[in-house]
Amino acid sequence: MHAVITALPGDGIGPEVVAEGMRVLRAVGTRFGHTFEIREALIGGCAIDATGTALPDETLHLCRESDAVLLGAVGGPKWDNPEAPVRPEQGLLGIRKALGLFANLRPVTLHPRLIAASPLRPERLQGVDLLVVRELTGGIYFGEKGRDTTMDGGESAYDECVYTSAEIERIVRVAATLARNRRKKLTSVDKANVLETSRLWRSVTTRLMRAEFPDVQIEHMLVDACAMHLIRRPMDFDVIVTENMFGDILTDEASMLAGSMGMLPSASLGAPGNNGRGTQMGLYEPIHGSAPDIAGKGIANPLATILSVALLLRHSLGLEDEARAVETAVWRTLEEGIITGDIAMPGERSATTTEVGAAVAAWIEREEARS
Ligand code: NAD
Ligand code: IPM
Ligand code: MN
Repeated sequence: MHAVITALPGDGIGPEVVAEGMRVLRAVGTRFGHTFEIREALIGGCAIDATGTALPDETLHLCRESDAVLLGAVGGPKWDNPEAPVRPEQGLLGIRKALGLFANLRPVTLHPRLIAASPLRPERLQGVDLLVVRELTGGIYFGEKGRDTTMDGGESAYDECVYTSAEIERIVRVAATLARNRRKKLTSVDKANVLETSRLWRSVTTRLMRAEFPDVQIEHMLVDACAMHLIRRPMDFDVIVTENMFGDILTDEASMLAGSMGMLPSASLGAPGNNGRGTQMGLYEPIHGSAPDIAGKGIANPLATILSVALLLRHSLGLEDEARAVETAVWRTLEEGIITGDIAMPGERSATTTEVGAAVAAWIEREEARS
């Protein structure tokens, strides 16, 4: 297969982890005989510095011409002035919206080797295998926002949260379809005791599940309670579907089930079959940010990005064997003990970002030698 991938390294540790993602992609190409043409472009703070905007037209154009996009992270202290008119995060939100990527899949699985890396007690982590489906192009992130002055001369600000029934239906359909192929349990998370958008979310979800997914068990949960249940009894969750901001917050929390922020990949997808291959054009990125506290040190965990490459192979290129080969190589690397500091035990040797990427690539190529 010949596929065109746009790489958007971004800021902070973004370029460090995307370099390892690309290394793994090349190893997959070598082993399975594919050519992956990788084109790099600017997004986020580095794009602001070079062009004055966080999402240059050229970047968007390249992404539209690609089979898939691999993104690192955007943002950092250099661009953190809250009064600045342009912000790195606008690039990320802009590309998700422009490409129509409304469904953000964030799988949470735990390698047994990393049980000790989690702050939770080992017995709480038995059987953790969940998938958060986060709505990505609606809600409070994309509502009208602004600043005002108050009657007494003070300042005010507002962010509007809007959801339409069509937006709710399409994301719940994605999540329920995924649940149907897993343990057939869907937890819809909202704040229906307070928010009108959540009450619409709950009604639409109830109606749609009854009509289209009678074989999938549905439960509704308030987001505050969900935050608690996620660490009290994480093994009870199969698929969680929720709105944009709740999904953002709950997945940083859920990353602790997997040992580190550096372990969770994500896939952002639009309508099925939108790329002419019968698969989906998508954007793949770790859930973590640019980690300014460790950027430039070569110690960031690249596995979230490498596991995002596996999702890219699976969802946008339809290459299931190749995706599994990447996931297996990641597991072998963990078992070998080649791990970065965020998941290493006290006293255990920490590997660098590059060492981990090279080890995963080597496993992929080594299996070639065996077959
Ligand atoms: P962060 O995710 O960058 O970092 C949170 C903590 O997790 C830090 O201690 C960091 O060192 C650690 N961490 C994150 N990724 C890691 C990795 N791969 N390996 C080891 N440790 C890792 O969140 P933050 O510090 O709140 O945000 C920093 C910047 O990143 C902000 O500008 C924010 O807007 C941006 N951000 C971007 C994205 C994205 O591009 N998708 C996501 C989240 C945050
Ligand atoms: C994420 C990030 C982004 C989000 C920010 C950087 C805009 O936190 O991808 O999880 O909130 O969606
Ligand atoms: Mn986030």
